[in-house]
Amino acid sequence: MCGIIAYIGERKASEVLINGLKRLEYRGYDSAGIAINDKEEIEVKKGAGRLDELNEKLKFSEIGGRTGIAQTRWATHGEPNDVNAHPHMDCIGEIALVHNGIIENYLELKEELLKKGHVFKSETDTEVIAHLIEEELKSSQDFEEALRKALLKLKGSFALAIVYKNDTDHIYLVRNESPLVLGVGNGEMFAASDVPAFLAYTNKVIFLDDGEYAIISKDSFLVKDIKTGKLKRKEIQEITWTLEMAEKQGFPHFMLKEIYEQPNAVREAIYGNAETIARIAEEIANYEKIFIVAMGTSYHAALYAKYLFQRLAKRVPIVEEASEFRYEAEELIDDKTLVIAITQSGETADTLAAIKLAKKKGAKVLSIVNVVGSMATRLSDLVVYTFAGPEIGVAATKTYTTQLTVLAMLITALARHLRTADERYLTQLEEQLTQLPSFIEEVLEYDGELKKLAEELKDRKDFFYIGRGVSVPTALEGALKLKEISYIHAEGLSAGELKHGPLALIEEGVPVVAVAPNGKLLEKMISNIKEVNARKGFIISLGDSDELSKVSDVFLKMPKIDELLSPVVYVVPLQILAYHLAVLRGNDPDKPRNLAKSVTVE
Ligand code: F6R
Repeated sequence: MCGIIAYIGERKASEVLINGLKRLEYRGYDSAGIAINDKEEIEVKKGAGRLDELNEKLKFSEIGGRTGIAQTRWATHGEPNDVNAHPHMDCIGEIALVHNGIIENYLELKEELLKKGHVFKSETDTEVIAHLIEEELKSSQDFEEALRKALLKLKGSFALAIVYKNDTDHIYLVRNESPLVLGVGNGEMFAASDVPAFLAYTNKVIFLDDGEYAIISKDSFLVKDIKTGKLKRKEIQEITWTLEMAEKQGFPHFMLKEIYEQPNAVREAIYGNAETIARIAEEIANYEKIFIVAMGTSYHAALYAKYLFQRLAKRVPIVEEASEFRYEAEELIDDKTLVIAITQSGETADTLAAIKLAKKKGAKVLSIVNVVGSMATRLSDLVVYTFAGPEIGVAATKTYTTQLTVLAMLITALARHLRTADERYLTQLEEQLTQLPSFIEEVLEYDGELKKLAEELKDRKDFFYIGRGVSVPTALEGALKLKEISYIHAEGLSAGELKHGPLALIEEGVPVVAVAPNGKLLEKMISNIKEVNARKGFIISLGDSDELSKVSDVFLKMPKIDELLSPVVYVVPLQILAYHLAVLRGNDPDKPRNLAKSVTVE
């Protein structure tokens, strides 16, 4: 996720753009840049670092001119450095563009362009677009036509703002599966990833839809369809939010906003890895001795991976908290070992120590990371990114569901390579993977119901979360979300463990959340739930079977999904429940007490 902005009008564009970028920094903050187009040449300044520092160093706001584009980046392809910062240009410096999203087929396009003699400066997927337009311009009548032809070749998600040296009176904007909104001023026009970027200047907006592009001048706009090139009618709407509300897009907290971003985040995780995952699977295929290390929520993702490894790839990995592994595993690892480290921040001290130990002993290290350029990515041999965008809320939500998604992609690809699972079944899983965003959208509808439930339960002292098999990590994660932001005591456990101790704590009204997707262990789960029923515990169940609904006090019907992928969807209502309980108890879920977003000390 990145933030982009464009301005054309009578003001000094650089000032408007930098003010706007400050409002978009929550979308990414590892590098930034600006391009101004109303001189002989397009003037570009960009670099790695936080916006304020860069502005100080590169003096963005000193560039004169009234037409420009800018971006604040959250790296996806290519680490955050000066060269990979946006804007990107074509070979001859006539086109500059900024991008938010992921070009799924960029490697394929880049190869073709390289053959045609294009020279690339950066490692980004974005630069490919500038070269592709340049290439199309060789045979097209005009810039718009060349742009449209180039867009038709792109796969993935992209919001773009583009300037063309020979046309200083216009900016070209594109939206496909990444947000972009136009701002209509008086003799000036804006465009940005999000309304707060220009809300200080105008509250009149036009939301572009997927598959549309726009051409703006200082006092006009045209919106057209990418496929047909035909004009589209668009309504101007008036925004009534305050700036602060707008930054959170109307959500009261970043955590809730990030919960709602999950369909999109998971989509990006799938797109972002589509081209590379099979190759990575192949690279790890020969390792039989596998450790998976992580902390906290990422550790729950590691546990999820264990079930998938066992069931699909017929491998038995050892899953360990990185804080344990770093002191216990020295004698156990060698150059025949694969260590998979899962860390959204890529900076967790224990996980980094585990990676360093693994490297020292000659093991191969694959990291699953959200933050591009973070330490974990620099230390590892292989990296799979989760592409969730920046997560501001301390409690992990979208970084978790994207971790699960990429793990499912990776292990399915591995099983295909190793031929350890039925091919038709793997194809079915791959198809369902692409449906995950819409399944998550379905369960987000439970928000209202979960809020009511939270009102009923907000004074309870203890919660239990139970699951079996691949749902055990979901139970653990549900409990962790609840305790860290609501400060209610919660335990997650495998349902089989209940009667070995914890059942002693179940009495009338104690909430027990049962994660019970259809699958080989459903009957066993129902027996466990009956044990709770007998002690008058309060059962909240998540599943898809009538039998389950009969033994539950509250039943949340989940979409029909394969048990192995269900954790990506089932955890979402648990995040929402924890969120409402936290808010109802007067806590700030974005900043839970005693906790930090990345734990960089042991
Ligand atoms: C909980 C949470 C933490 C992190 C843990 C590891 O919501 O966010 O438990 O999962 O601190 O962090 P990363 O994934 O950055 O290594």
